Amino acid sequence: MRAITIPEPGEADALVPADVPAPTAGAGEVLVDVVAAGVNRADVMQRKGAYPPPPGASELPGLEVSGRISALGEGTEDAGWSVGDEVCALLAGGGYAETVAVPVGQLLPAPDGIPLEDAAALPEVACTVWSNLVMEAGLSEGETVLLHGGSSGIGTMAIQVAKALGAQVAVTAGSADKLAACRDLGADVLVNYRQQDFVEEVKAATDGRGADVILDVVGAKYLPDNIRALARDGRLVVIGLLGGRTGELDLGALLAKRGRVQATSLRSRPPEGKAEIVAAVREHVWPWVAQGRVRPLVQSRHPLEEAAAAHREMEASQHIGKILLTVVG
Ligand SMILES: NC(=O)c1ccc[n+]([C@@H]2O[C@H](COP(=O)([O-])OP(=O)(O)OC[C@H]3O[C@@H](n4cnc5c(N)ncnc54)[C@H](OP(=O)(O)O)[C@@H]3O)[C@@H](O)[C@H]2O)c1
Repeated sequence: MRAITIPEPGEADALVPADVPAPTAGAGEVLVDVVAAGVNRADVMQRKGAYPPPPGASELPGLEVSGRISALGEGTEDAGWSVGDEVCALLAGGGYAETVAVPVGQLLPAPDGIPLEDAAALPEVACTVWSNLVMEAGLSEGETVLLHGGSSGIGTMAIQVAKALGAQVAVTAGSADKLAACRDLGADVLVNYRQQDFVEEVKAATDGRGADVILDVVGAKYLPDNIRALARDGRLVVIGLLGGRTGELDLGALLAKRGRVQATSLRSRPPEGKAEIVAAVREHVWPWVAQGRVRPLVQSRHPLEEAAAAHREMEASQHIGKILLTVVG
C-alpha cells in the first residue's frame, strides 16, 4: 500500500511517500480502507523526532482516519461492525496510509449528514476535548471555560462542545480572523492575546471570578497567568506544550483557590482507555453531530502523497480548524 513514512526526522520533506506492506487485522482489530486522515500537531512533533509512537503502535504517522471497514479480525465478529461500514477511528498511529488496523473499541460510525472524508476531522479532537473538558475537568452547565488556541483543531471542537454543555466560552487566538471564526462557532469572550491580557479579559467577563476550567495548549509560558485566571475550585488541564514544558508554579496562589493542575496525553492511553473515551464520545458528542450542533471545520485537503504540504500549512499556523489528507482509492 502507499503510505507516508519518516525515514529520518526533520522538516516537512522528511515525510516520504513509499510502498510499504499493508497491515493485517490482529485479534480485536478491524482493517479500514482509508478515505481521509486528519493532520494533528502531534504528527508534526513525531516527524521532528520529538514524539515517538507509543510501544506497539504503527511507526507511520496519523492519529485519526475515516474510511470503510475491509476486514474483521479474530474476536471482532460480534462487535456490531460489518465489512463495508463507513467509519471514523481514533488511532495510536498509522493513519497516513491507504489501509490501517484499528482496535475495534476505537471505531465510531461515520456520522449521518457529514461527508465521509470530513469525518476524519472528528475523532482526535472530539476524544481529546470530551476526555479533558468533561471526564477530567468536569465542566458543567453555567461554568466558564477558557480555551487557548481557540481556532486550532482542538479549539474549534472545544468551543462547540462547551457551548452544547451550556458553558460560557472564552477563547484566545492570535488574529481577528481566527477570533471571528471562534465567534461564529459560539464563543462568548474573544481575546486577541497579541493585544490583550487574557487574565483581565476573563476576569472582566466573570465579575472577577475567573475561569472554572482552562484547556491549555501553550504550557510553561502561560502557567503563571493561567493560575491567575483560574476561579476558586478551578481546573487547569494542560494538553499541549507549544510555549515550553518547564514553568514556575505558584503553589500558594493555587492553594488559595483550591485549584487543580493536570496534564494529560490521549495517545499514550492504552487501547482500553481509548475505547472508554470513544464510547463516551459516541454517547454524548455524536448526537450533537447528528443534530448539527457540533460539526467538523475543515480548512483544507491535500492528497496523501503531498503530506509535506499539509505539514507546512499546519506549521505556518494560519489555518482555522482541521487539515486533511485525502486518499484516492
Ligand atoms: N495531550 C493530548 O492528548 C493532545 C491531544 C490532541 C492535541 N493536543 C495538543 O493540542 C494542541 C493543538 O493541537 P491541534 O492539532 O489542534 O493544532 P493546531 O490546529 O495546529 O493549533 C495550534 C494553535 O495553537 C496556537 N499557538 C499558540 N502558541 C503557539 C506556538 N508557540 N506555536 C504554534 N502555535 C501556537 C496557534 O494559534 P494562534 O495563532 O492563535 O496562536 C495554532 O493555530 C497541540 O499542542 C497538540 O499537541 C494534545
